[in-house]
Amino acid sequence: IKHQRNLSFCSFRHLSPEEAVEENLILNSIAWPKIPPLLPPRSINDTSDPAHSSFIILPKKGGGQWIVGDQLKVRIKMFDYHGHPKKYGGDFILARLHSPALDAGVAGQVLDHLNGTYSVVFPLLWEGSAQVEVSAMTLVHPSEAVAVLHWLTYYQPDRLDYNTQFRSGSVRETTICNICLPPTQEPICDYTDVRTGEPWFCYKPKTLSCDHKISHAILCSVKVKKEILVDLFIFFIRSKIDLGLTTTDQPEARSRSVSGAAGYYYKGVWRSLRDTPVHQFNTTSAITECLKNKEIHMYGDSTIRQWFQYLLKKLDFQSSYPKSGPFFALDSENNIKVTFRCHGPPIRFSVSTIEMHYIANELNEVAGGPNTVIIIGIWAHVITFPVEMYIRRLMTIRKAVLRLLTRAPDTLIIIRTANPKDLARFEEIFASDWYIMQHDKVLRTIFKGINVHLVDAWEMTLAHWLPHNTHPEPPIISNMMNAVFSSICPGNSS
Ligand SMILES: *[C@@H]1O[C@H](CO)[C@@H](O)[C@H](O)[C@H]1NC(C)=O
Ligand SMILES: *[C@@H]1O[C@H](CO)[C@@H](O)[C@H](O)[C@H]1NC(C)=O
Ligand SMILES: *[C@@H]1O[C@H](CO)[C@@H](O)[C@H](O)[C@H]1NC(C)=O
Ligand SMILES: *[C@@H]1O[C@H](CO)[C@@H](O)[C@H](O)[C@H]1NC(C)=O
Repeated sequence: IKHQRNLSFCSFRHLSPEEAVEENLILNSIAWPKIPPLLPPRSINDTSDPAHSSFIILPKKGGGQWIVGDQLKVRIKMFDYHGHPKKYGGDFILARLHSPALDAGVAGQVLDHLNGTYSVVFPLLWEGSAQVEVSAMTLVHPSEAVAVLHWLTYYQPDRLDYNTQFRSGSVRETTICNICLPPTQEPICDYTDVRTGEPWFCYKPKTLSCDHKISHAILCSVKVKKEILVDLFIFFIRSKIDLGLTTTDQPEARSRSVSGAAGYYYKGVWRSLRDTPVHQFNTTSAITECLKNKEIHMYGDSTIRQWFQYLLKKLDFQSSYPKSGPFFALDSENNIKVTFRCHGPPIRFSVSTIEMHYIANELNEVAGGPNTVIIIGIWAHVITFPVEMYIRRLMTIRKAVLRLLTRAPDTLIIIRTANPKDLARFEEIFASDWYIMQHDKVLRTIFKGINVHLVDAWEMTLAHWLPHNTHPEPPIISNMMNAVFSSICPGNSS
């Protein structure tokens, strides 16, 4: 495996000197531990093997019973297939602690000691004597596979073909488009957006002109070399332990002070440990009351469309609509207006060229104000690209957000983070959770200190017992939407 970067055929928008400094800081902050350069060919037997690996629950500091507000620490010791201890870090591990009887769960924080051992810290947040299951400590990828994924991004940034249709009269042609378009003898159509500087290119069709492009990505095909497949694994470490948890006087206050968690589930309901407490908006009238006289603009990928669909269903809008949008819904009686529009390229579903709008350009058209809510979610279609592309996209969106907040400081801006998805083997190749997590860190860094509300889809999905999915299951979505409504109507609850 060579770790060279080859971005020579990727085109990224120009950065200002300040942005370039920020980009460097971001890239350093997400740098993943490197595996030692060993001579290829590597054997699978040298990689981390959960069957040989072990973990222990560290005893409570000072002894005694576990109480709510304590932290449970688990130490993982990684071994390879030969049974030799691993000497370096970089394994990608996800962890959740959950209590099925109470429908309670919280994500664990994983610390890499860079020597083959890992600590996982779980805040103990719910009271009562319960069986706690340390389940789903998942070795998503051994460090060797992470190295392959990282290499793949830079070595083959064009591993997805965005097949695009051109049409004039009865003449139809299809060519490949991308941000990273390897140079050939073919002429190229440049669709770089003049306002944002966001690049997009297609090979020019043989007979038609660049102006005849009618769709964005009618079909996406993945080209990843077969031999790379063998380097990717998914493993699980599972165990059950019994913890008799008793409560302290002020469990909430204690939890808040000790835990780095965004929140946790208790009886299936998400309790936030940051910003706004989450109230339950479980009736149509409660939602209608909250959204009365509001204008809600949603921009992003299909995970934002999922929120839009939730709203339509709850508010009983009778509608059918094209998959890709744009879509507009109105409740004239209560003066509620909701719009959805997908983000600009790259998108892996079919959208007509005319509807491909960049979020930053859309925000520039919004007047804003106390009755305007902006919801943004962009992650699922960008994670296969070098992270430099996402950094630029988010910096551009941030600029538009700041302009909007300057002209209308009362505008509420909500950003949905990414979430871990289904661990289907093939999907891993081009859209691994590792990519998602790295991109998600970028999003959090870029919007740090900006007056936006984050809905922590990452932890809300990770902490839940339901299987991970790009489009999280309905119980998770309704918890996310309650977080959204709670940001819009912090005082109200039903
Ligand atoms: C990078 O890609 C370009 C275009 O495909 C190619 O000409 C060049 O040799 C590659 N460089 C490396 C170091 O692989
Ligand atoms: C890995 O170890 C197994 C069991 O010891 C052995 O059968 C296999 O040949 C080894 N594979 C490689 C590639 O070394
Ligand atoms: C690895 O590092 C941790 C934290 O520094 C330390 O506690 C542990 O003993 C180390 N383990 C080994 C095997 O060196
Ligand atoms: C709505 O949520 C509240 C708070 O959790 C709960 O008390 C109430 O029973 C729920 N109502 C319905 C109709 O589900």
